[in-house]
Amino acid sequence: MNNSPLLFIDSGIGGLPYLEWLKKRMPEESFVYIADNKNFPFGTKNRNELINIMVATIAEAEEQYSPKAAVLACNTASVVSLDVLRNNFNFPFIGVVPAIKPAAFTTKNKRIGLMASNRTIEDEYTERLIKDFASDCEVFKLAAGEIIDFIENRLYNSDQDEIRAVIAPAVKYFKDNEVDIVVLGCTHFLFLEKELQEELGGNVMIIDSRDGVGRQIMRVLEDKDLKSGRKTDDKFILTGNKESNEKIRNYTWISEKYGLCAV
Ligand code: DGL
Repeated sequence: MNNSPLLFIDSGIGGLPYLEWLKKRMPEESFVYIADNKNFPFGTKNRNELINIMVATIAEAEEQYSPKAAVLACNTASVVSLDVLRNNFNFPFIGVVPAIKPAAFTTKNKRIGLMASNRTIEDEYTERLIKDFASDCEVFKLAAGEIIDFIENRLYNSDQDEIRAVIAPAVKYFKDNEVDIVVLGCTHFLFLEKELQEELGGNVMIIDSRDGVGRQIMRVLEDKDLKSGRKTDDKFILTGNKESNEKIRNYTWISEKYGLCAV
């Protein structure tokens, strides 16, 4: 048993739906959620830059919160830095990577869509994932940094017309290429899952990694005897400038919506 918190980290709000999945199933656990908005977006950084950012952020979090395990609730950070972090720290790391493997099992026409950040789309890890698990499929990859930026910075005060306009090029790309499944390879996209599904239509399935990652976290806590017996307050940490009051109200609102205490 271990009552220390479980650390979640993303470049912003993207990891919250992953945290929500786990909170529902493990009510005794305490969480520290770090929205590394100082370094948002991760997806435009090169490998070395992002590895350095992740090592520094995790080292600071280790000092302040002594987490028992960390979840990289971010595909971009995971594909780039998971191995390095595992070698540098003494607690377990669980990463989120694009759900290419389940997509390859599920697709009927062998045409898979993948939307993610620039870094994830370009990264050698993703290439390997496709080669290892979807070599019999065609994978149509789309770097969608502008949608990530929209979700992080503008979603909270946008209307449905703006949302539909922002996702329209992605929807067109996947429809033109007749994919029957789309992998949400960036955790931020979960916030627009409903709209993406409506625009893509009922014949296209959307998948993400929430179930797989959530179950893996539960397994790691169980196997390493790290489950908690006593809950304390969950925390939501912003690393960057507090920017405008309005933006802060959004972060406060969203953290409270997910049951976290903004600090
Ligand atoms: N949520 C991150 C991911 O899953 C966002 C990437 C970014 O900050 O560019 O990849």
